[in-house]
Amino acid sequence: MKTRAVYFSATYTTRKVVEHVAQRLSDEVTLYDITNDADTTEIIIPQDELLIVGIPVYAGRVPAMAIERIKRFKGEGTRAVALAIYGNRDYDDALLELSDLLSENNFLVISAGAFIAQHSIFPKVGANRPDAEDYKLMDEFADETLTIFGKENRELLPIHIRGNRPYKIPGSIPIFPSGTKSCNECGRCARLCPAGAIPTEHPKQVDETKCIKCGRCIVVCPTQSRRFKGLKYMLASMKFNKAFKARKEPDMFFARYN
Ligand SMILES: Cc1cc2nc3c(=O)[nH]c(=O)nc-3n(C[C@H](O)[C@H](O)[C@H](O)COP(=O)(O)O)c2cc1C
Ligand code: SF4
Ligand code: SF4
Repeated sequence: MKTRAVYFSATYTTRKVVEHVAQRLSDEVTLYDITNDADTTEIIIPQDELLIVGIPVYAGRVPAMAIERIKRFKGEGTRAVALAIYGNRDYDDALLELSDLLSENNFLVISAGAFIAQHSIFPKVGANRPDAEDYKLMDEFADETLTIFGKENRELLPIHIRGNRPYKIPGSIPIFPSGTKSCNECGRCARLCPAGAIPTEHPKQVDETKCIKCGRCIVVCPTQSRRFKGLKYMLASMKFNKAFKARKEPDMFFARYN
């Protein structure tokens, strides 16, 4: 079947998962990278196609910036797959929130998966994820999704996804990345920042009122000149590295059928 795969992915791990699942499901995939794309033109996905949407979990929720960008995709009772990628802490209400968002936009969510990737702020947490075991589970997830896709919509019962409503109120740590001495002012980070938070003329700086702490400027810098730093970051890192050392496993949810 024709598949559209939409992702918001600042440090590219969500993209990896979405692409893997999409390619296992279909050989006719159109990708939409909404990380840096504020276009709001409506896109209607016909009923016989499949939509996959992947987001990273931010503070247990769907990133606010991604919500607005996902809303442009509208269904016609079209079947959809929700994917939440998280950094080995927890996905809390993010997967449920994403599924609700898709339902509100007239999609029928037939499967939902929470997969683990390296934490984009504290990279020792979830380091080297997704790994071979994760990819095997993604394949199983895609194969079961394909079986469900083969059923008539009327045969499907509503999906139950872990999470609570009202969704948790997101917390936030006041840390922001900035450039170091080795920055050569190439401007790549400013161009790729999804929030427009890096001044083009002064790319070592960050506009803290705009920055969403997504970590993209760190991973795209060719000279490894940007980073989170300072005492607050060090203390938070120590806490996270210890508290979320134990390996978490993916969770998968499927619509049941009669
Ligand atoms: C602002 C922010 C908040 C995050 N909150 C969570 C969280 O609540 N739980 C978690 O396990 N990981 C959390 N993470 C880690 C990301 O969900 C994880 O690294 C994800 O793989 C990033 O996806 P990306 O590479 O597509 O940007 C957070 C990352 C950022 C940048
Ligand atoms: S990408 Fe790196 S080197 Fe280039 S402006 Fe940004 S911090 Fe400086
Ligand atoms: S400045 Fe902030 S919003 Fe922009 S890429 Fe860096 S972390 Fe993300």
